[in-house]
Order: sequence, then C-alpha cells, then structure tokens
Amino acid sequence: APKPRTAYVCNACGARHPKWAGQCSDCGAWNSLVEVAESKRPAQRGGGYTGAAESSRIEILSEVSPEERERILSGIGELDRVLGGGLVSGSVVLIGGDPGIGKSTLLLQACAALATAYPVLYVSGEESPQQIGLRARRLGLAGDGIRLLAETCVERILEQAAAERPRIMVVDSIQTLFTEALQSAPGSVSQVRDSAAQLVRFAKQQDTIVFLVGHVTKDGSLAGPRVLEHMVDTVLYFEGEHGGPFRIVRSIKNRFGAVNELGVFAMGDHGLREVKNPSAIFLSRHDEPVSGSLVMVTREGTRPLLVEVQALVDESPLANPRRVALGLDQNRLSMLLAVLHRHGGVALFNQDVFVNIAGGVRIAETAVDLPLIMAVLSSYRDRPLPLDLAVFGEVGLSGEVRPVPNGPDRLREAVKHGIRRAIVPRGNAPKEGVEGLDIVAVRTLGEALEAGS
Ligand code: TYD
Ligand code: MG
Repeated sequence: APKPRTAYVCNACGARHPKWAGQCSDCGAWNSLVEVAESKRPAQRGGGYTGAAESSRIEILSEVSPEERERILSGIGELDRVLGGGLVSGSVVLIGGDPGIGKSTLLLQACAALATAYPVLYVSGEESPQQIGLRARRLGLAGDGIRLLAETCVERILEQAAAERPRIMVVDSIQTLFTEALQSAPGSVSQVRDSAAQLVRFAKQQDTIVFLVGHVTKDGSLAGPRVLEHMVDTVLYFEGEHGGPFRIVRSIKNRFGAVNELGVFAMGDHGLREVKNPSAIFLSRHDEPVSGSLVMVTREGTRPLLVEVQALVDESPLANPRRVALGLDQNRLSMLLAVLHRHGGVALFNQDVFVNIAGGVRIAETAVDLPLIMAVLSSYRDRPLPLDLAVFGEVGLSGEVRPVPNGPDRLREAVKHGIRRAIVPRGNAPKEGVEGLDIVAVRTLGEALEAGS
C-alpha cells in the first residue's frame, strides 16, 4: 500500500505544517506539533470507517424537534448520575484515570447490567478474554450477553462492530488502538486521535453508545494531550486518594448533563460499590473538636456535599515557607493567605501552610475560600472550631464575602448531617431561616472571623 501522507498540526493553535519542528512558527508554542493523517485519506483508502453517511441538510432552528435523546439506565445509579441521568444513544463517553484505579472494573460491571437488556460489545486491547472472564467471576458477574473482542486494530474492530451492531460498546483502552492509516506507534497522539475519530463517527452513524477508556499521563492530562476531550460528548474522570477505598468519578464535560457531577464508589472485594450518601463518608468525624479542621458544604454538579477542610500551620525552618494545597488550587491558597494578612491582620510569612480536603475530593469552586481561611486561622491559633459548625463562601480580594450558588440547598444538606451552626455569605442566608440551624450571615472576612472565634 502507498504510504499515507502525513502532516503536522500544532496542538496549541491548530496551524498545519508540512514538516515537524520543535516550535510552531505560527504561535510560537514549543513541542506542540503532532502528526496527523491528511484529511482526505480515510475515505479514499477504503480502510477507515466511513459507514453509510447520511446526507446532511439545513434545518430551521424553530422547526427542529427538541425531543429528548433516548436514555438508557446502566443500573449503576452513581454512574447514571454523572452521565446526567443515564446513557444517551449515539453518545461517546471518555473515561479517564490512573492505571489501576478501576476504569475496567466499573465498565465491566455496567456492561453486565446493560447486557441483560441490550447487545453489548466489550473490546479489550489490554486483556485477553480469559483475563476478563476471571475478573467477571471475581466480581460475581454472570456476564451473559457480554460479547468480548480482543483486538487493537480500529479498522478490524469497526468491521466486527458493524456486523454485530451492539447498542453499547466499550473500548478499553484507546491507547492500545492503532489505525492502519498511520505509521506511528499505538498510544501516540496521532494514533489516539485518529482511532478515536473513527470510533466517534461510528457511534454517531450507528447510534451506538461508545465508552472510551483512557489512561492518564503523569502530568494529569489524558494521553494525547487532551486531544480527545473536544471530540467526545462526555468526559468522566476518576479521582481518589491512592490506597484509599473511595473512588470518585467526576464529569468534566457533558453535552447531556451538568459538569462537575460526582459519582462516588467504594472499591471492595467485589468491585465498585455505590456510595449513596457521600457526605457521610467524606466527613471524618472527630470525637473532640480539633484545631485546623472545619466542615464546609460544597456543591459539586447538582448535589451538595459536606467535606472536611483541614489545615496545618507550623513554624517554618525555610527561607521560603511552604504552601501546599491538596484537593484545591495552590494559587488560590496563596491569594487567600494574602487576603487574610491584609484584611484579617494575620501574617503567616514565617509559617508553613498545608491544606487538604479529607477523603480525596477535589474542590474546584470558590465556596471553599471562607472555610479555608478559617481552618488556617484555627490551626495557627490552635483554637478548635465547633464540630457542629459548617461554613461556605467566596472571599474577594478586598475582604468581602460573596454569595455562592445554591445556598439553601447547601444549608439543608448541612442540617441533615447534624450541623447546628453555619457561617455563610449574607446573600446566601434565607430570610425565613432554616429549621434547626443557627445561621450567621456575614458580609466581610472580618465579620466571619469574629463569628468564628
Ligand atoms: P482496574 O479496573 O483494572 O483499573 P483500570 O482499568 O483503571 O486500570 O482496577 C484494578 C484495581 O482494582 C486493582 O488494583 C485491583 C482492584 N480491584 C479490587 O480491589 N477489587 C475488585 O473486585 C477488582 C476487580 C479489582
Ligand atoms: Mg483496565
């Protein structure tokens, strides 16, 4: 076969270059050029999946029927939740995470449930059917109706899938696949992108639900520097403490649901078990109040969640004291320490500051600001905060405390878990109050620190 033509595309700006170079001559980004196959290629070669393309036509927006896409329930409630209420026909879901975190386990469990009602094809490029069979037995799954295919060539996978017509297809993992159209090794950006593109086309044309498993690289991005995220409908990402029992699946992109929705699981001897009441597990209760610990109410996706913010402030032997943030943004921590100095009058120049969200959850929202500052101060002064106190609120650079979305929702969740006092932004305090809760509404950091002392 003639060698297919390739070109190089800059991952940063999208510019196309005929030759590889260390720096993109268009935008100046370094090491951003990746090999791609010339766009005409798959159709002409006859190898890449093209399917029976429907002819496209222009429609008028007001006349497009806005009917909901059909959803299928996987039977795993927490998975259906992160997907926005079930699997959507013809959608492509990317599931990313560290090797060994539980991606194959979760999908095999979902497939077993789905296979009782729909044709399911599980394609593995990593494990043999025997290994998958062993795993299924260990998980106590019947596996009736799950069709297995051990194959890594995309063209051959899609040939089989076109004949099989599964309703749900899992491809584990995208990094093991290769397309005949490219010479580069499996796992390279161009292979990952081109293979995924063919699978996406297949999903849309056959109305098949496709799950793509992707291992993450060390820097935290999915292999093929995020090239897949924009191609798929939904991106789910496994988080969780290493060694800990809990696994959190977060939607970081979803064309059919809310982002930052969390599904919470516990890994046990029989695979992943759903955790239906996650507030209860993330809240590691202390018997006695301890300094540096404070409960906050976060709201990830559509569900409020109580988590414990922990801080340790200790005299530093270093010229540049350490600021370490686990589960939240390091820069945000530095900023909040500056606000604490300027508007709270507390300088921590000679102190190491460590903060952590217990249980391995990541908090991406600004509601963590106020609880974080209060936990830091509590540790610094070695003054414990009450166990039945919950706090949330954004803190601005001028020391103002700003409201965050869904205040009442958060307060109700807090009461449910035995919280009796709350310090919240004034804009989040309901006029009629919340039964069983003593709410202190604050406008500034100063007021909050006073209320918490
Ligand atoms: P796996 O799903 O193979 O991870 P991934 O596909 O993301 O690479 O997860 C395997 C890990 O989970 C492995 O370390 C063993 C553990 N495990 C259990 O603890 N219990 C179980 O029932 C199973 C199947 C796996
Ligand atoms: Mg796996």
